[in-house]
Amino acid sequence: MKTLGIIAQKGGSGKTTLGIHLAVRAVTAGLEVLLVDLDPQGSATAWWQRRRQQAPGLVQADGAHLGDVLDRARDSGFQLVIIDTAPHASAAAVSCAQLADRVYIPTRPAILDLDAIGSTAGLLVEIGRAAQVVLNACPPPTRSGEPRIVGEARQALVAYGIPVNPVALSQRAAFSHALIDGRAVTEFESGGKAAAEIDALWLDLSQELFP
Ligand SMILES: Nc1ncnc2c1ncn2[C@@H]1O[C@H](COP(=O)(O)OP(=O)(O)OP(=O)(O)O)[C@@H](O)[C@H]1O
Ligand SMILES: [Mg+2]
Repeated sequence: MKTLGIIAQKGGSGKTTLGIHLAVRAVTAGLEVLLVDLDPQGSATAWWQRRRQQAPGLVQADGAHLGDVLDRARDSGFQLVIIDTAPHASAAAVSCAQLADRVYIPTRPAILDLDAIGSTAGLLVEIGRAAQVVLNACPPPTRSGEPRIVGEARQALVAYGIPVNPVALSQRAAFSHALIDGRAVTEFESGGKAAAEIDALWLDLSQELFP
């Protein structure tokens, strides 16, 4: 069983969006997937309750019990667990980072969001865990490639010493529309640009976790 933790101290950076979309994409790849909702706001849980399909599974938990939840998930035969966390939740974020095989930190590319990454990055350095930033809600690429703000964000992130995933997710209405009735973009608009971005991110993650 492999575990992906998604943490970012900043609210609204895309933790739940990323967790839901990667979970659904992993189900499509044939894996038994469990989403763990560590956020008392319960956004992933609310999405899951609107969903008609059974998979991925979902369980709500708190940081203190995350280890037990992962043990049970392993015993139940889950192959991938994705953990969605709350903003401003250091203790739960620390347990998540400690227990996960891979940690993603989503951030929007704007300067105020990048500034806020310092607290998440600091937390990871403190516990000695590696993580990767995933740029989210970026202006879509143009014919000449990645927009300038995305390139600038990549450069700014070098200062934090955290690698940045080559895949950037764009700001696309499909990412929020799909969630309304409990779907993800790969189900809502499977041939669309948002789905292609999730496919690319999943390819990167699956090669890392399941080489
Ligand atoms: N790539 C995107 N394109 C369009 N909308 C997006 C994108 N990413 C996130 N959003 C929207 O931005 C809002 C915040 O996203 P999300 O809930 O995933 O962030 P979060 O980090 O989980 O927030 P919180 O810290 O409150 O848990 C949501 O309304 C979501 O639909
Ligand atoms: Mg969330």
